[in-house]
Amino acid sequence: MQIKGVILHGGHGIRLRPLTHTGPKQLIPVANKPISQYVLDDLRNSGMSDISIILGENYSEKVKDYYGDGSRFDVKISYIHQPEPKGIAHAIALCENFVGSGKFIVYLGDNIIKGGIGKYVSKFISKEYDAMVLLTKVKNPSKFGVAKFDSNNILVGLVEKPKKPPSNFALTGIYFLSPIIFDFIKELKPSWRGELEITDALQLLISKGYNVGYDFVKGWWKDTGTPEDILDANRLVLDELKPSVKGEIESSSSIQGRIAIDEKSVIKKGCLVRGPCVIGKETKIEAGVYIGPYTSIGNNVIIKKGEIENSIIMDYCVIDVEERFVDSIIGPYCQIISASLNRPKGRRLVLGEKSQLFL
Ligand code: DAU
Repeated sequence: MQIKGVILHGGHGIRLRPLTHTGPKQLIPVANKPISQYVLDDLRNSGMSDISIILGENYSEKVKDYYGDGSRFDVKISYIHQPEPKGIAHAIALCENFVGSGKFIVYLGDNIIKGGIGKYVSKFISKEYDAMVLLTKVKNPSKFGVAKFDSNNILVGLVEKPKKPPSNFALTGIYFLSPIIFDFIKELKPSWRGELEITDALQLLISKGYNVGYDFVKGWWKDTGTPEDILDANRLVLDELKPSVKGEIESSSSIQGRIAIDEKSVIKKGCLVRGPCVIGKETKIEAGVYIGPYTSIGNNVIIKKGEIENSIIMDYCVIDVEERFVDSIIGPYCQIISASLNRPKGRRLVLGEKSQLFL
């Protein structure tokens, strides 16, 4: 029986405001691709073609507009609505009918992992586990679900955001499950944060003697819950960028390192572009601009002046000021324009709620 995939696309996104005032966090682009598309691509490349996306309250229509019925991505997509973000286990319970009697993978829509999950899916199936978790070593385990092992390295417990972590091994948001998990989710009570925790359901499975396997992430893994995480993920993905030039680079520009520039974009004369960096479609980098390493610039952007490094500039932005921007995430349709000729002199700002400026 074919194994199914579930992507969690709900949740609050509070730590990513103002970016999440106009869309769900999982659609924020990393290297010009929405984070949840890395998840979808990974599920498809690991053999899943029947995928359900659990939608939350925050702009769910944008998710449906982007993914549609899945045919653009070579998969079949259905949608399930989670009316309130009552926890990962609550969201999983909603897909009981979709899953039916087969095994399935739940993948948090804000997780990115190097190299994908194909080999872990094969292990989950061949070992006939009832469930399997994927772990990774972290410096700050209290921020995650954490694994507990006995002296023989047997997984004996899983605990959500413990004050005193039993190990440094965090649960990634990729869960390999079989329908038995639904019985245990039904027994859960809300945790201290008011959510039904998948960590607690898996703990019940372990306590009742079910066969819960684990493996460790071989490369990097990133949970993109904060702006710093998004910039980290952008760097990690750009580190593996394959160069590709579909747009135009005027001859007196200097290009160093790996860059990908999409159709109908242009880098004008006298620019310095240091990769890795990615530039979307129909974007103009005007004469003399500097684009530094680890920068992702979206579609239909105009950079007239300035310097940008280690940043994400989303679609339809205009930047026209002799300033250097670093470690920045600029949402779509923003304009950053010099006011040096305006009187009275000074900064003129039109900012939405929770904007952040470091001047
Ligand atoms: O990223 C790994 C961590 O993810 C694990 O180590 C934790 O054990 C696990 O509980 C989870 O912790 P977070 O606190 O990071 O979960 P968060 O609330 O950020 O939600 C994770 C994703 O699931 C996010 O894409 C939003 C989605 N979600 C979340 C909730 C609570 C839903 O779709 N529905 C929900 O009700």
